[in-house]
Amino acid sequence: MSFADKRILLGVSGGIAAYKAAELARRLVTAGATVKVVMTKSAAEFVTPMTFAALTGQTVGTALFGPGVHPLEHIWLGQQVDAVVLVPATANLIGKAANGIGDDLLSTILIAATRPVLVCPAMNCEMYENPAVQENLARLRERGMWVLEPEAGALACGAVGYGRLPETDSILAALGRLVAVRDLAGQRLLVTAGPTHEDLDPVRYVTNRSSGKMGYAVARAAWRRGADVALVTGPTSLPDPFGVEMIRVRSALDMLGEVVKRFPSCDALVMAAAVGDYRPESLAERKIKRGSTAALQVTLVQNPDILKEISALKESQITIGFAAETHDLIEEANRKLTEKNLDLIVANDVNQPDSGFAVDTNEVTLVAADGEVVSLPLLTKDEVADKILDWLVPRLTPKSPEDAGD
Ligand code: PMT
Repeated sequence: MSFADKRILLGVSGGIAAYKAAELARRLVTAGATVKVVMTKSAAEFVTPMTFAALTGQTVGTALFGPGVHPLEHIWLGQQVDAVVLVPATANLIGKAANGIGDDLLSTILIAATRPVLVCPAMNCEMYENPAVQENLARLRERGMWVLEPEAGALACGAVGYGRLPETDSILAALGRLVAVRDLAGQRLLVTAGPTHEDLDPVRYVTNRSSGKMGYAVARAAWRRGADVALVTGPTSLPDPFGVEMIRVRSALDMLGEVVKRFPSCDALVMAAAVGDYRPESLAERKIKRGSTAALQVTLVQNPDILKEISALKESQITIGFAAETHDLIEEANRKLTEKNLDLIVANDVNQPDSGFAVDTNEVTLVAADGEVVSLPLLTKDEVADKILDWLVPRLTPKSPEDAGD
């Protein structure tokens, strides 16, 4: 995910998870952000300001007063950035922010901040569940701050429960949505990804080379741009995209059922899944044993075409398919566009080594029902996802501000 040209204020308070803020700072800088770190006195007990200065190339704010501190820093630091993120947010910092207390640089910045704030609490589970902390978090939410719920698990103090800082990827995803242009706010996107597994017996199945990367990239990008996203995915080994509703399926028939169920309430469908066109005619109850004959005959029968079935249910929804082709790319894409009654088909030449299945890049041509054809250069799948969504946004019916709110 790119944070190019974004300015982020990273507020670090004094909890053991402060060391994870260093990784976040590094990832943000790598993604193109300018990161200014402000630490509380307690945070500097866990990680030195020098660590953040080295990672970000910026001076680190630690004090309200003193040599080198601009007298108005506490005002403009939270106003001249794209977003503020608090990692970790301790019970103390949360309490001060909820009650308007500014007794150090970071808490004072939070009183004056006018930019979106992402609060990432991390602490012992009893502390987190304490009613005072929960009430303070509720206040912050009411005032428009976004609180990223901590995860459950083993905590540094030895306890097990809610209080663990979410993974850096989750924080980056949430922050990405906070600073993105939310041109899909209020839109409901249904996305499919991955292969399907068509079972032959309890240990064998027929499948294809799809990793799910393309569909997951579309789901991530759509959520970042403000959409509510449901991802129907075949078996993959990818991490769940943050914020996205996950629906896991195995076979083409399972995927058909889930897509048909969800399609009527979506605004757009993006079918990036490589759905198995055929499945074994019958599923053996027991493992098929190695027999006396050298060859095993398996009859494959055709699976339903999900997009064709959906076509009958289509009202105002925009439908986008993919075409994975080894030859006659544009002709085949056009044929599928018409046959499947699509608004757009994304044609990828899967012969090229850095395009199509399982790689992080893709070279695609967007073929629209109105005749427009746009060939894109080799891009990352995240970039391709954004190009598809750029095409989609102006074609969607805009949502009312109530529907578009987070
Ligand atoms: O998952 P990755 O490793 O990242 O790889 C990405 C990809 C190559 C799988 C992806 O970019 C892609 O091209 N997905 C579609 C693959 C495919 O099944 O293409 P197709 O030409 O066979 O199908 C055309 C369209 O019909 C697709 O949108 C497909 O989802 C849909 N379809 C296909 C078969 C079927 N029974 N029902 C369908 O709805």
